Amino acid sequence: MPDTVVVTREEPIAVVQINRPQVRNALNEQVITEIGEAMRGLDADPAIRCIVLTGDEKAFAAGADIKEAAFVGATPVSMLAQDLTAKWEVIRRVKTPTVAAVSGYALGGGCELAMICDVIVASETAKFGQPEINLGIIPGAGGTQRLTRAAGKWVANELILTGRHITAQEAKDIGLVVHVYPAASWLEDAKALARVIAEKPPVAARLATEAVDMAWSSTLDAGLEFERKAFYLLFATEDKDEGVDAFVSKRKARFKGR
Ligand code: CAA
Repeated sequence: MPDTVVVTREEPIAVVQINRPQVRNALNEQVITEIGEAMRGLDADPAIRCIVLTGDEKAFAAGADIKEAAFVGATPVSMLAQDLTAKWEVIRRVKTPTVAAVSGYALGGGCELAMICDVIVASETAKFGQPEINLGIIPGAGGTQRLTRAAGKWVANELILTGRHITAQEAKDIGLVVHVYPAASWLEDAKALARVIAEKPPVAARLATEAVDMAWSSTLDAGLEFERKAFYLLFATEDKDEGVDAFVSKRKARFKGR
């Protein structure tokens, strides 16, 4: 089977591109597994400080592959045995900051995959949506939870109940997308953002995204406690001394991830 993702290293960033254009980058087990393997490999490499996850111009990913036998003939028992959730978890556990760069469709599992990333940016051509309702199901890879946390109960319900597609601008208006880039330069613009993030001290970047995720997954008290400990911990890093010294000396900091 040909690889379904293409990894391009442009240190200090890397691009993981979903590569099934004939089916609008629909996500089958192989794609999710290969995205996870690629991202886990990059996560273990200190030379890579930000990962861009993307598709092609027409689609980031049009959701689960709804024509494959694994979907068409699925039963609760076969889905339990397949345990796709464990494969999605590999992607979620990546600690290097991730930027989802969306052009074209990010639907169903595609929208959910973008929402696993730390930042979402989009081409002006992008279309987001959770159309699972049209198939008689609901989002199954985090959509009901993450979209609700991003956009609020009423917006999430409207999108999930109608299954309608929203534009990049509307996705920005509801807080899902951070920047909408021109169609001619969306991927370069996303990579430029990744390079800015990659210049930051890696330990602080990792703890920052972990702390932000805590705001989703825990109580305010537990999140504040995590933030406080992470904040203190960073005072033990060489990068904290480097950042302060660079500021005082009016020079650019060179962070080492220590
Ligand atoms: N699965 C399998 N094949 C898909 C696909 C998908 N999710 N999305 C598109 N394709 C295939 C089409 O069947 C078509 O194949 P053929 O050329 O062999 O006919 C090819 O990709 C191109 O698609 P279209 O001709 O439809 O292209 P378009 O540009 O006119 O429309 C689209 C694109 C709006 C994405 C449309 O294809 C579409 O609505 N796709 C389905 C989207 C969807 O329902 N996603 C949710 C899946 S369920 C899910 O994701 C569950 C979960 O939570 C994990």
